[in-house]
Amino acid sequence: MRGLFAVVLGLCAAVMLPEVAAVRYIVGGNMGWSPNVNYTVWADGKNFYNGDWLFFVYDRNQMNVLEVNQTDYESCNSDHSLHNWTTGAGRDVVPLNVTRKYYFISGKGFCFSGMKVAIDVENPPPPPAASPVKAGSRSLLSTLRGHILFPVLFAVAAAWDSIVMVL
Ligand SMILES: *[C@@H]1O[C@H](CO)[C@@H](O)[C@H](O)[C@H]1NC(C)=O
Ligand SMILES: *[C@@H]1O[C@H](CO)[C@@H](O)[C@H](O)[C@H]1NC(C)=O
Ligand SMILES: *[C@@H]1O[C@H](CO)[C@@H](O)[C@H](O)[C@H]1NC(C)=O
Ligand SMILES: *[C@@H]1O[C@H](CO)[C@@H](O)[C@H](O)[C@H]1NC(C)=O
Repeated sequence: MRGLFAVVLGLCAAVMLPEVAAVRYIVGGNMGWSPNVNYTVWADGKNFYNGDWLFFVYDRNQMNVLEVNQTDYESCNSDHSLHNWTTGAGRDVVPLNVTRKYYFISGKGFCFSGMKVAIDVENPPPPPAASPVKAGSRSLLSTLRGHILFPVLFAVAAAWDSIVMVL
C-alpha cells in the first residue's frame, strides 16, 4: 500500500512539477475582441510566456482572427495571412508555443477600427525557488501549487496509509 502511494504521488509530481502555471489570456479582457479597443494598451505590462494561450472572444458573424506578419499588421492587410485561426464559433484559442513576436488582426475591415494586437512571447521565467523576490500572480500560483497542494496530498496519503495499516 505504501509503495503504491509512493508511485501515485511520484506520478502526480512528475506530471505537475513542469507545469509552471500557463496562463490563458482573454484578448481584450472584458471587452473581448471588438472594435475601438486599444490592444496595445491591453497588452502593455503583460508578460506572455511560451506555453501561454490567447483566447479571442467575438461576434462570429462579423470578425475573425488572422495571424499576419509585421508589415501586414501595420498596414492592416489581410490578403496574405500567415495563419487563419478562425474556427467559426467566435471563440478561438491560439497557443503561444514559440518564443517570438506574434501579430493578429481581424479582417473584414475591422483592423482599421483597432482590431490588431502584437504579442511578444518570451521564455518562461525560472522557477520561483530561483527568484524568490518576484511576487507576480504567476509565481504566487506556482508557490501555492508547490507549498500547499503537495503537503495536502502528502498529508492525505499519510493519513490514509496509517488507516490502512491499522486495519
Ligand atoms: C493606443 O494607445 C497607445 C498608448 O497610449 C498610443 O500610443 C496609440 O496611438 C493608441 N492606438 C490607437 C490606435 O489609438
Ligand atoms: C510580409 O508579407 C508581405 C507579403 O508576403 C511581404 O511583402 C512583406 O515583406 C512581409 N513583411 C515581413 C516583415 O516579413
Ligand atoms: C478562415 O477560416 C474560416 C473557417 O474555416 C473560414 O470560414 C474563413 O473564410 C477563413 N478566412 C480567411 C480570411 O481565410
Ligand atoms: C504550435 O502550435 C501549433 C498549433 O497547434 C502547431 O501547429 C505547431 O506545431 C506548434 N509548434 C510547436 C513548436 O510546438
